[in-house]
Parts: sequence; structure tokens; C-alpha cells
Amino acid sequence: MPFDLSPIGPTLGAIIEGIDARDLSDADDAALKAAFAEHRVLVLRDQSLGADDQVTFSARFGPLYRMPYVKPLADHPDVIAVLKEADEVKVSTFGSWWHADFSYLEEPPVYSILQAHELPPAGGDTLFADLCTAYDALSDGMKAMLSPLKVMHSGHIYGTKLAPDGEKARMRSVEVSTGHVEADVERAHPLVRLHQPSGRPALFCSPTYTTRLEGMTATESASILGYLYEHIARPEFTIRQRWQAGDLLMWDNRAVVHLAVNDYDGHRRLLHRTTVASERPVPAFNQEDS
Ligand code: SIN
Repeated sequence: MPFDLSPIGPTLGAIIEGIDARDLSDADDAALKAAFAEHRVLVLRDQSLGADDQVTFSARFGPLYRMPYVKPLADHPDVIAVLKEADEVKVSTFGSWWHADFSYLEEPPVYSILQAHELPPAGGDTLFADLCTAYDALSDGMKAMLSPLKVMHSGHIYGTKLAPDGEKARMRSVEVSTGHVEADVERAHPLVRLHQPSGRPALFCSPTYTTRLEGMTATESASILGYLYEHIARPEFTIRQRWQAGDLLMWDNRAVVHLAVNDYDGHRRLLHRTTVASERPVPAFNQEDS
């Protein structure tokens, strides 16, 4: 392997050291993609990608995906600044509850990539939950019940109704626009999705975007989905990215959910984010025959 790799958790995530993301050989590129397929969350230490470099690096993994409803950098339409200023206190922040990015879209983005630029002295970590291992850990009976199901996802937090924490002021530094009628639309996706690179089934739901099970009311769905959210977030399925200066973090939205911990009021935090590729979620099991 042309770099050092150390696992973060027993089933999820790896730290990569000893490569420069701006200057990858073909062997580096192939080894990095193989590591990504296996570990699904990678942290490349000691990187300093400017926005142009980040776009070039991201394009190795597929076409850049322009994020809806979030204002990008003025001169880089494919890059958003995930920023909270020191004076933004007691506000809700971008991505602070479990989610896979834009999972409510017909073809949600596959990969997300974050370059650290400015970090608080402590806190501001990013958590990931392993949706493949969480699925594997379910009983055979539960797997059989869930496998044929679809779940409805909606972008309601960008829609016309108030988000659940709508009473709380939103951060001002990430310019998110709301009030979009099309964001209220619910779309059905398989509850058990295939992570193609590993061939593993993964649970595909999150408390941020999943509204209910297809064909059921939100109330009827609540106990099953509530159980799954609790299950996914069990400590043994999660890892924690404690940011270091120069970290470049990337994850596969088909196989993990993530959240940004909002615990660093009084400090500035700035990351640049790109998203890459998109696809209609592929069911892990044949939904008609199950
Ligand atoms: C996100 O991309 O959802 C935010 C992640 C973070 O700020 O750590």
C-alpha cells in the first residue's frame, strides 16, 4: 500500500497518512479507492486543499454534485463553506442530527468530502454510524421484515413548513434557503440499500429526512423507525472524527449516516465541502419477491 492506513473503529473508518491529495499517482488513486470501498469513511491527514484542489481531488470519485438550497462559495459553485462564527451561539447548525446527505432526492449524492480550514480548540467533532454493520447485527426475523420495505424521505427542512427545531435560530453563516415546495415532496427509497463497492446491505433511514414507511402513516411507522434510529446510533456502530488541522474527511452516503456535534459556541469552525456523484438508491434485496 502506498500510504499508512490505521483503522478508526473495528468496522468503520480509516486514517490515511503519507500521501498528498493534490498529487496522487495512479497507484495511490487505486489504493485510496480500494480503502474507501472497504472502510467507507477516510481521514487523510495533513492535507491543505484550496477550493480548486478540492474540486480536482473530488472529481476522481465522479462528477461534482451541486448541492440544492445551500449557497456555495461565490467563485466555486461546487463548494460550500460549512461555517459557524464565534458569535453564533445557541443556534442550530448545519447537519447536526443523523443524516445521509440529501437522501430525499431522487438520486442522492454518493460521496461527501470535507477539508478542515479552521477548528475550535476542542469539540466540533463529526460522528458517523455504520449502516452496514447495524444491518448485519439485526436478527434474521427483523431483517426479513425490513428487507422488502421502502421508506419515504423528504427535504422538509428546506420546505414550506417549520423544521422540528424551527423555534431555534438557525446559523447565519451557512446560507440555507427554505420555503421550497419541491422540498416537501416525499420520495420512496429502499429501507435496505446496497452499498455496491462492498456488496453489503445497509439500513437507509435517518431522523433528519425519513418521514415514514411507505404505505403507512407517520404514527404507525414511529415505533419501527424509532427502534432503527436507536439501533443505528449504538456506540458499537459509531466512530468519532476528532478534527485535526489539515484533515480531509470523506464518506460514502450509501453506507453511513453522520452528524456534526454543535458544542463549540464561542469559536469559529470552517470546513469546505464538496459532494460527488449521485444515484438512485439500489435495493439490497429484490423488493417484489421478498
Ligand atoms: C455535514 O456535512 O453534514 C456537516 C459535517 C460537519 O460539519 O462536521
